[in-house]
Amino acid sequence: MRTILVTGGAGYIGSHTVVELQNQNYSVVIADNLSNSNEKVIEAICQITGKKPDFIKADLSDQSECKKVFDTFPQIEAVINFAAYKAVGESCEKPLDYYKNNLGILLNVLQQMKERGIKYFVQSSSCTVYGEPEVLPVRESSPIQQATSPYGNTKQMAEDILRFTAMAKQVKAIALRYFNPVGAHESALIGELPNGVPNNLMPFITQTAAGIRKQLTVFGNDYPTPDGTCIRDFIHVVDLAKAHVVAINRFFENKNKADFEYFNIGTGRGYSVLELINSFEKTIGVKLNYTIGSRRQGDITQIWADTTVSEQELGWKAEMDIDQMTLSAWKWQQHLDKTPF
Ligand code: NAD
Ligand code: WQD
Repeated sequence: MRTILVTGGAGYIGSHTVVELQNQNYSVVIADNLSNSNEKVIEAICQITGKKPDFIKADLSDQSECKKVFDTFPQIEAVINFAAYKAVGESCEKPLDYYKNNLGILLNVLQQMKERGIKYFVQSSSCTVYGEPEVLPVRESSPIQQATSPYGNTKQMAEDILRFTAMAKQVKAIALRYFNPVGAHESALIGELPNGVPNNLMPFITQTAAGIRKQLTVFGNDYPTPDGTCIRDFIHVVDLAKAHVVAINRFFENKNKADFEYFNIGTGRGYSVLELINSFEKTIGVKLNYTIGSRRQGDITQIWADTTVSEQELGWKAEMDIDQMTLSAWKWQQHLDKTPF
């Protein structure tokens, strides 16, 4: 059985990916400092799959703690790197913390891999690297725009670091550029755990429906889109998780065509903020208390993925629709209300 190190594996996307890796018979080591997650997630993963992943609590931005992870698990053959800080607004207030953490983790992990001859690396990248695209849908070949936040910049810099490390033949890397991950595992045992007031739309919707938040504000309805609200490519987190398994298989099956590759991981379809709200109201059967407010600074108008390359090259395609996304997010919210983490 091959062993995969999943950094940040106790987090939202990481935990769903661990489940899919275990389902495909990979053995998993999770390294996480639990700065934005909870150790109970490990139990929940075990409940879903019947297999307990190895877990080591470690701050991977610290060189010696990172080394300890690789010393403890010498069987690691590939790494999926989720560990990072991810709050866009916070990154503008604490840029150095974001560069230190997100890039420190990447450099420490790559250094350990180099010293041990571990070659395969999958990186969590983001559609944020495209900024406000001029042409839609956005392709992998679309220009990378200047970052509008330190967070976004860490994702761009991470891709550059991987490109050059791969060029030096030290690693084979795949960057997956996620669009907007939402939803939760069908078991409702794992899902997103927003810290405090959610920044992102879906957890704000579910918390408003649950009565935790009084009202949702739709940030602007005067955008040049059909209903005036912003458009995003929302993708079910389980579809996203499966893309990581495909990326890992690609290495072991020697299918990669370059030492550094990058793929859009979205559905290829954009939904507006109001369309997501409508889907939620329909699938849940409740009226959501929302109001139209002013635009949020820094928001782009619209983005959705061209998925041609990921479909052709990876043989991966998102399967779940918008209603499955909203329904699973709601089930998770209900689970959380009953059994808080
Ligand atoms: P998350 O916060 O739920 O998961 C990240 C995990 O990394 C957390 O468990 C956290 O405790 C851990 N972590 C952070 N710093 C660490 C450190 N120094 N050492 C060890 N562990 C550390 O976030 P997520 O939504 O699951 O995102 C996972 C990855 O995907 C991140 O790299 C994020 O930037 C990227 N991404 C997320 C989105 C999104 O909308 N959620 C979109 C695009 C890309
Ligand atoms: C979606 C839409 C908001 C909250 C962020 C990061 C991006 C990537 C994904 C990591 C926007 C609107 C939101 C609310 C609203 N993450 N909205 N009311 O901004 O597309 O992307 O997460 O890489 O880098 O920036 O996602 O969920 O915050 O917003 O009207 O209370 O919902 O204005 O149009 P976003 P989001």
